[in-house]
Order: sequence, then structure tokens, then C-alpha cells
Amino acid sequence: MSITESQGRPEPLHLKIMKRRAFNFSLLSTVAVNLLEPSRAQTTLRVNGPRIDAHLASLSEYGKNPQGGVTRLAYSEADLQGRKYAMNLMREARLDVGVDLAGNIIGRRAGSAAGLAPLLIGSHIDSVPEGGNYDGDVGSMGAIEVAQTLAENNIKLRHPLEVIIFQNEEGGTIGSQLISGEIPDKQLDLPANSGKTIREGIRILGGDPTRLPEARRKRGAIAAYLELHIEQGGTLEAGKIKIGVVEGIVGIMHWEVTIEGFANHAGTTPMNQRRDALLAAAKFIDAVNRVVTSIPGRQVGTVGKIQALPGAYNVIPGKVILGLELRDLDAKKIESMFERIRGEAARIAESTGTVFDFKQTSVSYPALTDERIRRLIDETAKGLGLTTKSLPSGAGHDAQEIARLGPVGMIFVPSVGGISHSPREFSHSGDITNGANVLLQTLLKLDAIDL
Ligand code: GLV
Ligand code: MN
Ligand code: MN
Repeated sequence: MSITESQGRPEPLHLKIMKRRAFNFSLLSTVAVNLLEPSRAQTTLRVNGPRIDAHLASLSEYGKNPQGGVTRLAYSEADLQGRKYAMNLMREARLDVGVDLAGNIIGRRAGSAAGLAPLLIGSHIDSVPEGGNYDGDVGSMGAIEVAQTLAENNIKLRHPLEVIIFQNEEGGTIGSQLISGEIPDKQLDLPANSGKTIREGIRILGGDPTRLPEARRKRGAIAAYLELHIEQGGTLEAGKIKIGVVEGIVGIMHWEVTIEGFANHAGTTPMNQRRDALLAAAKFIDAVNRVVTSIPGRQVGTVGKIQALPGAYNVIPGKVILGLELRDLDAKKIESMFERIRGEAARIAESTGTVFDFKQTSVSYPALTDERIRRLIDETAKGLGLTTKSLPSGAGHDAQEIARLGPVGMIFVPSVGGISHSPREFSHSGDITNGANVLLQTLLKLDAIDL
């Protein structure tokens, strides 16, 4: 349905031209303002900040760690409990709640106009090991709050609304990839951080790993997706900026690197006769850092996981398994860095008498957010008296996968000290409320148009 058809009026020529060319957002906001803007009652609508705080605090009980923060690994008991809690909140917000075949939680509400694709809002509630209480939780609780605010004020959107909590974001945006594309069969059998394979996990969550193609949606099957999230970096706080408008999200690729050496006696094997896999690993870690820092740009590379076997003081390590991660906004750059790293590994293997094997375990491609949604978030935030800044996201998000289905936008709120993936992750309540209000008002504006 077009913007004007939905109003039952003839379509003015300028709108026809706009639809044929690129959609002109500023023209829309000045020319068609009365037709399309949310009503006055809607623009003054605000979320209930203390309720979001209470929900975040309750959610933080599931997987709580003594040092603060949570370990709520995908497919763990804590994840299941947190999901149950979130589903109850969704029911209170008068959403029809279900779990799709990929294990994502979806709370639906019908729209008032026929034939429109749904507007999606949401995030994730699984965490990294020893993570914080804000990454993913803010966007998930914020999205539920938006749905509840709409319900309490009897506001029905034109579009169907879906509040979605994606499964296993931290293990490589798994739930959102399963909706928007495919995950190679082999990857489904890899263990997630909880030790369960993705295939097992999907079943545990209530999905069905034998019917994943049915969970997939086609391009155009969503009207748009909006995600509220903490920045996880320090740009907003340093600039005293309240709202970040995300320009794009980095691609993330993971490899499991296995180095085979030879386990032998640490006391009797001379230094020049060793095939020490951990020594090779040390050289490799240094090489990753050298390759990544040798070119200009914001790319990053990390070896964040290491296992040395058999793991004893008096045995030369015969085998090491590493986790290599590379990120950038340009997928080609990631691939070319990887090729250089592989070249370095070949040289290290030669000099240490070891063998390197690389297995790619996860791929998330970089994605740009939709320019029109960016502008809408920016205008909306400024209209609420909030300062804004455009910035890229160095963290991965489900939005980058959902971008394959339709236009996406992301709203960032400040992270204190730029700390994330840590129990010390923190965002101020007022900032979270601001973010949720921007989410609410942007959603209302998006609902009034057809992107
Ligand atoms: C997800 O949080 C990621 O960036 O790893
Ligand atoms: Mn996250
Ligand atoms: Mn995260």
C-alpha cells in the first residue's frame, strides 16, 4: 500500500515522482506532514523509565554473578529463565508471544492497515561469559516497554508490530542469521559458549533445527527493524552526547586456529629440538596484532581464546587451540587481513616445526543502516531535546543480519567509561529512558510512512 492510498486520496504527482526516484524524506516531512505525522497525543507519548529500570534489575537476577553482571550464555539454564521472564513481560504488554522455529522469541500485535509488512523492534538477552547487565538487555526491555506504552495508551500501529528477542547474539548473531539467511550445517554442530551445540540449543529454546528454512524470511518481509543498544564504547560519553545514530555495523569473522606441535618432556627435550605449539601460538598472536595495526583504519583483530594441551608445567604443549576474531566495516579488508595472517602463520609453522589449521566458525557481514531511518532517529532525538552524533558500531548486532530483509536503524545510548562485555558495564537510567523514548517516537514516525 502506498502512503497516499492508505489515506484514500488521489496520489499527488510529486509523491509519484518521489516513489520512482529515491524517497525524499525532507520533502515528505514538509509537504505531507498533516497526512503522515503521528497525532499530537502520540508525539507527547513517553515510556515509563522506572518500569524499564525495574525490568532490567529483575532480568539481571538470571545468571547473576557475585562480582556483578551476569553469565547468561545462550542455551544455558539462566538463558531459559531470562527468556521466560521476558516472555511474561511481553504478555503483560499485550503481545501474542511465541518462539519461532529458529528459537527467537517474538511478541506480535496486529496492525490496523491490511497488507503491511511488520515493523520489528528488539535485541538479545544472552550474554558473554562474565558480561554486564546492559548489552542487549536495554534494547530488549526498551522494546517491550515501547509495546506496553502503546498498549496502555490504546495506540494501534498501522503496521503489525513484532518485538523480537534474538537467540544467541553473542555466539555470532545466530537467531537473526537464521531468520535472514542460512547458517552452514557444519556450524550448527559447533559448541556455543554454554557447551551446547547450536542445533541442540535451538531445540532447547523451543525451535526445531530440522525446519530452519521455514524460519527464514524473504527480503521485503519486514517494513523496518529498529534496535536500541548501549554504545559499548566511549564516544558519546566523551562528547557529552545523549543519542548515537548508528551509521553502520562492523562485519565480524571468527576462526578456530589449531596448532599441532609435539608434546614431549619439558626437562629432557633440548630447546632446539622442540615443536612447541604454545610458542608458535605466542608468535602468531603477535603477528595478528602486527598485521592489523600495519594498515590505516579502524579495523580490529583479537585472539581472545586459548587452550594449551595437555596443559602441565612439565610437558611441552603439543596442541593449542586459539580463537581469532577480525572486524571491520569492509568485508574485503577483513578477508585481506586474514590472508596476510595466514601467510604469517605459514612462516611461523616453518620456523617452529608446527602445523596450523584454520576453521572459520562464524561470519557476520558488515551492514549499513538505512539513511532515511538515520535521519528520522536524528530528527526525533533532537525533537526530544537530545544531542546526537552519527557513529559506526564496532560491536556486532542482530541489526546487521536483519539488514538483509529490509531497512534497519540503531539508536545508541552512552556507556559509562566505554566499558562493555564486563561486569562493570553501566548506563545511566536517564539515558536508557531517553533511548527508549527515541525508539518509541521513531517507531511512531516509521509507522506513519511506507519506507
Ligand atoms: C557482540 O556483542 C559483539 O560485538 O561481539
Ligand atoms: Mn549486544
Ligand atoms: Mn555483546
